[in-house]
Amino acid sequence: MSDIDTMLDMARKAIENAYCPYSKFPVGAVIKAESGKLYASCNVENAAFPAGSCAEQGAISAMVCGGDRKIKEIVVMGDGEALVSPCGSCRQRIREFGDENTVVYICDRKGVRKTLTLKELLPYSFGPENLDM
Ligand code: THU
Repeated sequence: MSDIDTMLDMARKAIENAYCPYSKFPVGAVIKAESGKLYASCNVENAAFPAGSCAEQGAISAMVCGGDRKIKEIVVMGDGEALVSPCGSCRQRIREFGDENTVVYICDRKGVRKTLTLKELLPYSFGPENLDM
């Protein structure tokens, strides 16, 4: 199985476990890190709404905890007609550990719907290099 197929399978499992009783909008995310390791997560909401977390956020935490620091690719999986692309905050979170060539696969449960680079999603971004003074 190719990495993207494995990532899609992991995202399908992650989205199944999403905790989203308020929005009823499950999201799954899977990161392929520089090491080749894959990290999955889902959105986890909270009765105090702003305390909820996005799927990408959880996958980034898992990646950092797993010892990786660089995102090569990320799958974001959600349902519905509109493309489920990372929210603004998550674009910035991905930027922290990605670069302009980081690949973002926007997916539904059937597969990849659109492939973009982080540069396309977040042009003229602000990142850690900006603070190298
Ligand atoms: N959500 C994500 O997990 N990732 C995104 O990039 C978009 C939004 C979640 C947050 C919330 O639990 C639900 O989707 C509805 O906004």
